[in-house]
Amino acid sequence: MSFIKLIVFVTFSLSFTFSNAHPVGFNFGWGAHHHHHHGGMSFGLSPQFYQFSCPQANDIVMSVLEKAIAKDIRLAASLLRLHFHDCFVQGCDASVLLDDSVTVASEKNGGPNKNSLRGFQVIDEIKAKLEQTCPHTVSCADIVALAARGSTVLSGGPNWELPLGRRDSKTASLRGSNKNIPPPNATIEGLLTFFKRQGLDDVDLVALSGAHTIGVAKCATFKQRLYNQNGNNQPDENLEKTFYFGLKTMCPKSGGDNNISPLDFGSPRMFDNTYYKLLLRGKGLLNSDEVLVTGNVRETHELVRTYAQDESLFFEQFALSMIKLGNLRPLTGFNGEVRKNCRRVN
Ligand code: HEM
Repeated sequence: MSFIKLIVFVTFSLSFTFSNAHPVGFNFGWGAHHHHHHGGMSFGLSPQFYQFSCPQANDIVMSVLEKAIAKDIRLAASLLRLHFHDCFVQGCDASVLLDDSVTVASEKNGGPNKNSLRGFQVIDEIKAKLEQTCPHTVSCADIVALAARGSTVLSGGPNWELPLGRRDSKTASLRGSNKNIPPPNATIEGLLTFFKRQGLDDVDLVALSGAHTIGVAKCATFKQRLYNQNGNNQPDENLEKTFYFGLKTMCPKSGGDNNISPLDFGSPRMFDNTYYKLLLRGKGLLNSDEVLVTGNVRETHELVRTYAQDESLFFEQFALSMIKLGNLRPLTGFNGEVRKNCRRVN
């Protein structure tokens, strides 16, 4: 993983800690790309952000995670997904954690999230512990990012130096949660468009889809592939036959929409490259997984082949793409706030 460290140090920025009530990371623009926009001083994310204000932050996150995942292994997958759904809607600002209130239309009610996103109680527990140790210091957005990385590591996946210093939004976007998150029946062109809108490319799409090496999906999200893929009451012809028959048992034509199936049935609890190996054999669960191979975009098909052959290359790219995902439009400096309770604005 020394390659990843190198990349992170290239964009290294110094951070100083002043007081807990104020934004704590100051990036003086050394090596920053945008200091010319800010007259020499700008705010940025940095792995050392809590070095002085809350050096135990990651240890606290990891100890809560270890216990939670030991009780319910799926939480690792759920927390990884939570970061994705946070970052794709107005940036990585913990907007996804806000409950309905007078001023907030919660993203939790968005189509891709409702009865689907999980892990909120674990975030609450981490936040409560952090408020005891370092009051009003660690943002909910950083907690979600730390939990996503920790879940990856605890599942056997790569580790990376995580830039920190995100602040929490005072708003959420229900509309954004319905508009920005790609649906499971997306075409390859659709997926690429959704990712491009966020500044992510085909490499990020294929690498980040590798998160589907852990976790599960409900029948409702892939049923169409079993019974009516093209509006002609026929299954998706790309589904491998044995896999297809197994899925039909799990997901009958009528009912059973909440039954779940692993996204990577080969090693559903292990963060590895089996997901890509299965894709090459017609055993990807979602249409959005399948089309990485069969969608007639040569680059994504090639990338699937590459990651299926070389797990360490997948791990390296996954780490790089997760850093890119985590850097999507964060609130920094004096923007936003550090919430005391992740479910509501202060
Ligand atoms: C490329 C477009 C993507 C689509 C269309 C998509 C769609 C989905 C769907 C439909 C589910 C099942 C939800 C349910 O049944 O309740 C799911 C689960 C999951 N997704 Fe994605 N996803 C995408 C990308 C990603 C990315 C980028 C990540 C993280 C980096 C991710 C992480 C996960 C994980 C870990 C699960 C399992 C969650 C659990 O078991 O609780 N997905 N995804």
